Amino acid sequence: TRTYIVTGSASGIGATTAEMLRARGEKVIGIDLRNADIEADLSTPSGRQTAAARAIELAEGRIDAVIACAGISAPIPATISVNYFGVTELLTALLPALSKSDAPRAAVVSSMASLQPNSPEMVEAALAGDEEKAVAIAAELAAQGPEIGYLVYPSSKRALSRWVRRASITPEWAGAGIPLNAVAPGTVVTPMTAQLLATPEGTAMVDAAVPMPLNYHQPPESIASLLLWLTSVENTHLAGQVIYDDGGADATLRGDDI
Ligand code: NAI
Repeated sequence: TRTYIVTGSASGIGATTAEMLRARGEKVIGIDLRNADIEADLSTPSGRQTAAARAIELAEGRIDAVIACAGISAPIPATISVNYFGVTELLTALLPALSKSDAPRAAVVSSMASLQPNSPEMVEAALAGDEEKAVAIAAELAAQGPEIGYLVYPSSKRALSRWVRRASITPEWAGAGIPLNAVAPGTVVTPMTAQLLATPEGTAMVDAAVPMPLNYHQPPESIASLLLWLTSVENTHLAGQVIYDDGGADATLRGDDI
């Protein structure tokens, strides 16, 4: 039995991932705001530290894999805190327990939105580890209304994908034998997208931004199964990748210009 930490385990992709792991007989410790083994707020430094300490305690010191799904898409400053710092700080705090595993792995959920227009200043502030500055930039954007505020989400995911590229090849990750990767979904049918997909207008807006020629909108299982493989013992050499598991959206939008 491997021990997995899954964030965002109460809903959507995280809940499906936790279910699939449990069905395979793995031990899962879920982290979420509510309805989880560990109830913690990943938008704050203290919430992240409490979550990490409790996770290491419940795992009895050895964690085999971390799968970070928790995230929000609202045009608010908390989005950069949860989606970037709530992932990177938690993963970093769990590194000592991962190093106790024979086959440690980590995977995070980014987004197709990481390729959309974003705020380079916010991305740079996040990558520099300056949460205060990143949050201040997000607050400025959010104050200009939903159209500008929307930039907060793609910026948070852009920063997260770039962090994975950078961190994955460092002594702490690759050097410690830990594959670290990101999955970038297209439009997944979960509570996060339910409201948008409930109307033809919302659906048309989503589909214009994220065209999915292969099988259209995806179920959370499509992402969870890839997360399971990325964090399985079978993954020995895939590292630093942002895998667009998106019904062909990335190939449609970027073509062969990669
Ligand atoms: P969801 O809303 O169903 O689940 C997200 C979970 O994260 C919720 O249980 C929520 O309570 C938790 N969470 C939010 N803020 C938190 C905080 N401060 N502390 C702890 N937990 C917190 O959403 P879904 O669709 O399952 O999304 C999972 C991930 O996939 C997110 O990172 C999202 O950005 C990403 N994603 C989702 C897409 C979609 O179309 N649904 C597309 C691309 C990426």
